[in-house]
Amino acid sequence: GETRHYKFNIQLKNVTRICRTKPIVTVNGEFPGPTIEAREGDTLLIKVTNHVKYNVSIHWHGVRQLRTGWADGPAYITQCPIQTGQTYVYNFTVTGQRGTLWWHAHILWLRATLYGAIVILPPPNVPYPFEPKPHKEITLVLGEWWNADVEAVINEALQTGAAPNISDAHTINGKPGEIFKCPVKDTFTLPVEHGKVYLLRIVNAALNDELFFEVANHLVKVVEVDAVYTKPFDTKAIVIAPGQTTNVLLEANKRSGSYFVAARPFMDAPVTVNNKTATAILHYISRNSESDIPAVNPLMPRLPLLNDTAFATSFTSKLRSLNSVQFPAKVPQTIDRNLFFAVGLATESCQTCNGGLRASASINNISFVMPSISLLDAHIFNISGVFTADFPDKPPTPFNYTGTPPKNLITSKGTRLSRLPFNSTVQLVLQDTSVLTVENHPIHLHGFNFFIVGRGFGNYDPNTDPASFNLVDPPERNTVGVPTGGWTVIRFRADNPGVWFMHCHLEVHTTWGLKMAFLVENGDGPDQSMLPPPSDFPKC
Ligand code: C2O
Repeated sequence: GETRHYKFNIQLKNVTRICRTKPIVTVNGEFPGPTIEAREGDTLLIKVTNHVKYNVSIHWHGVRQLRTGWADGPAYITQCPIQTGQTYVYNFTVTGQRGTLWWHAHILWLRATLYGAIVILPPPNVPYPFEPKPHKEITLVLGEWWNADVEAVINEALQTGAAPNISDAHTINGKPGEIFKCPVKDTFTLPVEHGKVYLLRIVNAALNDELFFEVANHLVKVVEVDAVYTKPFDTKAIVIAPGQTTNVLLEANKRSGSYFVAARPFMDAPVTVNNKTATAILHYISRNSESDIPAVNPLMPRLPLLNDTAFATSFTSKLRSLNSVQFPAKVPQTIDRNLFFAVGLATESCQTCNGGLRASASINNISFVMPSISLLDAHIFNISGVFTADFPDKPPTPFNYTGTPPKNLITSKGTRLSRLPFNSTVQLVLQDTSVLTVENHPIHLHGFNFFIVGRGFGNYDPNTDPASFNLVDPPERNTVGVPTGGWTVIRFRADNPGVWFMHCHLEVHTTWGLKMAFLVENGDGPDQSMLPPPSDFPKC
């Protein structure tokens, strides 16, 4: 592969959205940030320089970072943050992955404005495994916008113990679209030609909302999720959780006209969300005019309703790995480590909070505490007292996870890691709990793709549910939605040594403690240990 260089200058920029202007943290003054383009096998050198008052780190979401965990990015997990005035060059190779991924800040809530797409193309002259070849590719990054300063929103919530204020808009490529009537044009437009096929690369970069996405009067064909090819299928809408990416083919089969492209939340738990619709416009142009003819009365898609669990479940159940000769699904058929993680919300006492309580979240009754130096530093340089490698394999006491929770559930705090031998195969049951309330949790694992072998509602039953597992062509992803009041089972091979964060990709739940990390040991073979960290690796 080639080596590609990027420069990311983290700087403030005044941006106007929904009729207001505010300074936001950006990469190079762009919002959304620049798209990283590479081919499979290329090496990326991304030089990040911090010119803002906040500490910063950038995560390359979904990039496996084989043996290069020091380039993964989550602050205090794999690196100390890049401080004001400092520079760090992220140096990694994209191995065995093609499709759409994305990058985002991985500290505080800075990812609200610091994000962009990563497009990984096949090696030169290698075609896509799906037909037809798209005429053009269009990246659509879905996001959330607050009128207020986003750091202030979460800090205030932590002080009062309440849930943070919901966002003011959803966005498509940073623009909320037509529902806000502002003098500044706030709508992203996709010009298309009749008869051509387009590849839409869709990223959900929202902080706290799973989204439905639909194009009026057009079906789309899903061909890839999280940079893994899928068996193609047609659908009217897609559902996409924060952290996930989906590539779809769209055939521009109308003669003319304008059609809204829309995104709006999916939420089937009793939680308040921003239910505003973001819109872009798909606009037919004639072959000889590249001009952006103003769109007249575009058609609006219906979109599934906010709580349409049936649609979301049916969409999710259609996802299958391509599992072809060229792209086999290497699902672990035997398991070395069998883990059961109860994930959910809780409350904890808080002296400054209204009512003396604040929301918290945990895995196996442990609410994760961020260390003050990075876990990977502690691991590589043998610094003791930063973490313990004793994360429990199951909850302290089993209970009826989706029923009425017992009164005596104690949540403790800790920086505890789960240790995995190199190359061990792991099965992990993720069970939602109803402590506080049931809710969907898009769980993201750094450093790996995993296979989603099973999924269901209610309590997972180890005696009967494995009978329904798909061990042949299950979808392979880096982020999976644990359904509201239900469970999901994933399998992966621990073939990437390092420290790997796993957390709910709803930013509010991560803040509350719904996170942990795996420590994967080095193997004995020549290529089975972490490479040494670069000389400019940030210090705390
Ligand atoms: Cu996309 Cu740990 O994050």
